[in-house]
Amino acid sequence: MARYALLIQPSANRVYSGAAAALTQAELAVFSQSVLGGRIGDVSEAVIGGVGYVTFAADGLGGRDAAQLANLSSAYALFEVEGALLRPVELRPLDRFDDDLITIPKYQGKTNEQFTKLLLNVTLLSSAFARSMLDRPFTVLDPLCGRGTTLSQALMYGFDAAGIDLDRRDFEAYSAFIQAWLKRKRIKHHAEHGPLRLGGQVAGRRLRISLAAAKQDYKAGVTQHLDVVNADTTRALEFFRPETFDLVVADAPYGVQHGSRTAARGLARSPLGLLADAAPVWARLLRRGGACGIAWNILVARRDAAAAVLADAGLAPADSGPYLAFRHRVDQAIVRDILIAVKP
Ligand SMILES: C[S@@+](CC[C@H](N)C(=O)[O-])C[C@H]1O[C@@H](n2cnc3c(N)ncnc32)[C@H](O)[C@@H]1O
Repeated sequence: MARYALLIQPSANRVYSGAAAALTQAELAVFSQSVLGGRIGDVSEAVIGGVGYVTFAADGLGGRDAAQLANLSSAYALFEVEGALLRPVELRPLDRFDDDLITIPKYQGKTNEQFTKLLLNVTLLSSAFARSMLDRPFTVLDPLCGRGTTLSQALMYGFDAAGIDLDRRDFEAYSAFIQAWLKRKRIKHHAEHGPLRLGGQVAGRRLRISLAAAKQDYKAGVTQHLDVVNADTTRALEFFRPETFDLVVADAPYGVQHGSRTAARGLARSPLGLLADAAPVWARLLRRGGACGIAWNILVARRDAAAAVLADAGLAPADSGPYLAFRHRVDQAIVRDILIAVKP
């Protein structure tokens, strides 16, 4: 049985303040059970040459296995342990753009980029489509998209991304950023930015972009799509078709920087009211076999209550094994957890 040592990105150690290794172990366990046939075992932490690693045993990782693991949210480098030596394993992540797509935007209330990638990965790997992660573009909706961290991560993977946020400033900030970034990087694209009309009335704004990382793909019409709407997420079925998304991924308001707003309930610290109103809509937008992944602050809403809301919307929450190991403290006011639920 071969032994491997995974070096975690220094930035992950910084943003998770002590929880990076535990989160990596949980993410590794989800990769193992979904796309690696449960072949990863004996996961632990080790210090090698004075540097901390997450180590694991696996029965010979092939090229495709390494290509899967290359997308681990905090992976920096992977080595096979040979006696006292480390042999690098080539990592070729899905990434198709420069990483400043995700790292440049800095603002209060941003979901950190490693965590956004973790949530997207775990949601994808829990869907019925996990095995095609490397083979086809997924369609991802972030129905509380803020200034677009999930959308940019989905684009980075070569996927199609859609987003909804009620906050006009967030919508305009992401629109301005992504269009300026595409121009600066000379990435071929076509953008339409204008009012969103529903029932003859202006209900918000909408940005639609088609783009391709390679000029020849753009010419051939092989494009990625970004579709961002400034509106209330509970109205999503008015502007997106049912059963069109593989994944719904959202970081719910923590009740600290952002509150959860619903037309009927107003602004609340707990996201449960918003989730109760929105989860049935999000569930309808998902394809069968698709998965919904939500992150939230457990100091304002209990895990069992959040799971019940997703179950009431007809989704099946994953509530065992590594799925119970993602809880971590962000700061004094936030203990974050994630909940994944699949559409049967
Ligand atoms: C934690 S933030 C998401 C941050 C985002 N992931 C990012 O990195 O920019 C939650 C978002 O939910 C939005 N929100 C709250 N209630 C909403 C509603 N009813 N419809 C749409 N968006 C809503 C807030 O405006 C806020 O941007």
